[in-house]
Amino acid sequence: MCGIVGYVGEVGLGERSVEVLLGGLKRLEYRGYDSAGVAVIDADGRLDSRKKAGKLKMLIDDLEATPLVDGRTGIGHTRWATHGGPTDSNAHPHLADDGRLALIHNGIIENFSELKAELVSEGVEFQSETDSEVAAHLVARAYRAGGGDLAEALRMVVNTLHGAFTLLVVHADQPGLVVGARRNSPLVVGLGDGENFMGSDVAAFIAHTRRAMSIGQDQLVSIRPDSVEVVDFEGRPVETTEFEVDWDASAADKGGWSSFMAKEISEEPEAVANTLLGRAVDGAVTLTDLDGVREQLLTVDRVIVIACGTAAYAGILGKYAIEQWARIPVEVELAHEFRYRDPVLDARTLVVSISQSGETMDTLMAVKYAREQGAQVLSICNTQGSTIPRESDAVIYTHAGPEVAVASTKAFVAQGTALFLLGLHLATLRGTLTAEQIAEQVTDLQAIPEKITRVLESSDRIRTLAGWMADTRSVLFLGRHVGYPIALEGALKLKELAYIHAEGFAAGELKHGPIALIEPGQIVFVIVPSPRDPRSLHPKVVSNIQEIRARGARVIAIAEEGDAAVLPFADEVLHIPLAAPLFESLLAVVPLHIFGMELAAAKGLDVDQPRNLAKSVTVE
Ligand code: AGP
Repeated sequence: MCGIVGYVGEVGLGERSVEVLLGGLKRLEYRGYDSAGVAVIDADGRLDSRKKAGKLKMLIDDLEATPLVDGRTGIGHTRWATHGGPTDSNAHPHLADDGRLALIHNGIIENFSELKAELVSEGVEFQSETDSEVAAHLVARAYRAGGGDLAEALRMVVNTLHGAFTLLVVHADQPGLVVGARRNSPLVVGLGDGENFMGSDVAAFIAHTRRAMSIGQDQLVSIRPDSVEVVDFEGRPVETTEFEVDWDASAADKGGWSSFMAKEISEEPEAVANTLLGRAVDGAVTLTDLDGVREQLLTVDRVIVIACGTAAYAGILGKYAIEQWARIPVEVELAHEFRYRDPVLDARTLVVSISQSGETMDTLMAVKYAREQGAQVLSICNTQGSTIPRESDAVIYTHAGPEVAVASTKAFVAQGTALFLLGLHLATLRGTLTAEQIAEQVTDLQAIPEKITRVLESSDRIRTLAGWMADTRSVLFLGRHVGYPIALEGALKLKELAYIHAEGFAAGELKHGPIALIEPGQIVFVIVPSPRDPRSLHPKVVSNIQEIRARGARVIAIAEEGDAAVLPFADEVLHIPLAAPLFESLLAVVPLHIFGMELAAAKGLDVDQPRNLAKSVTVE
């Protein structure tokens, strides 16, 4: 969850480090944090640092009152507390070597206790309760013992650490140098002219450059104004690849919307359209992203989807699509459960990981486990250069653009789109659908962006409903077939945004227990299947509505335009355009995204950064 920024620039070039660092930290705020700090070194080798608990503004105000030295070398950090509370002393950077070395860290060093005991026995005095400060003192010790080679000192230390870490370190002896290293935690380099950057993700430096380079597992990077050197933890040079970030700084700003979440919901149509771009053409699906694993996909006999939270609910949509079209059995598992149940995997198992951030530790560790067990891993991810795609055999990038609000919205519809494309791609490879059947699905899928736009036009009605319900204490969500993951997603949005107890159920489960929850006034959203669906689930769900209305529930139905059967039984009907049954899921979720946001806003809550949550959960 922590945000990391590093910067080196030619003296006298461009902005001062502190401006670059603070700008980068601002763009990383969405990762969630509870303290922030920066360290800068000037050309004369003076290291100056400041760190504050609380929001970034606290630090900025403090720096305005008492500026740091003017340097072109620096590191910056936003911390999401793991070891030790959110205090000034626990904030990063951590200093060592009599204040001449500064270090920042994202992750958890699992063996920090024994390393700390060793340092204490050598007389080191600690200023914080953090595992990160241990790393600072270890690097300082190695630096002194190693004769002043900062990169070598960090390399020696990282080979003694267990757990997950991205570390950046600077030393007053060496203005113009920032050294970083990563294991199981993200790090990317931004390439400039006469200046270079590092960050937890490209948002840290997108305002300055869109040229980027990913740092791989167990790699160490030294950046200077005119050079970038990457070695592995054995000290051997490694090949690196540059990539162009496909969104610019303005995309990461609110663009005039009241919140990032409002902006991102408004972008749901283009998130679907951009994910389809170049992949659903002339009635066929072309996933060149998967050319490298074509043979494996032909022999796959089982698919296991692994993800967390909203991404896992998108995975259920993929289950229905792949099973229906490609006739391959699909299981959907929470990544943090999957890894510990000793799953039976082999080369004919396709593990599909879904992650917006590409850094969710639970999902990353499950991906690593699956590969160790010999399974093929395909990732669906929204963040280029992130860690999970690099640990996968193939990746389908969604193109939803940066998703800054902690609550995922446009990424969800993009993930569903990517999964539908995957299902059609598998059906094409394996001949389980005819070309005509695929063309029909592609045509329906290509119409979804415009249909989402039409659903967005009903936002005012949903905002009114949310205003009426601002004091509600519990909301239930019912859905069937692809409406079931939408019910789960709607409930999660309410929990994480409006801090209301909410629960999603498969509608058929109601009479097996949950109907006992229904009492007069209980608000229930019901995602109603299309009356055109040959599975004839529609009458069953209309019966469910009657059962709960008879017990006093207030029912808000999400139903397709023209569905008259539901009108007599619902207190409110939110209509969605007709679409193929599977794709209607991408339409039904939109009112629930809007409702969650509007209810949170009606309660005066922080829509973009809900309490206790972080955008990317980079710890297990
Ligand atoms: C969704 O609104 C939540 N922010 C959370 O459940 C999220 O979907 C989950 O942590 C997975 O994140 P990822 O897609 O970045 O892996």
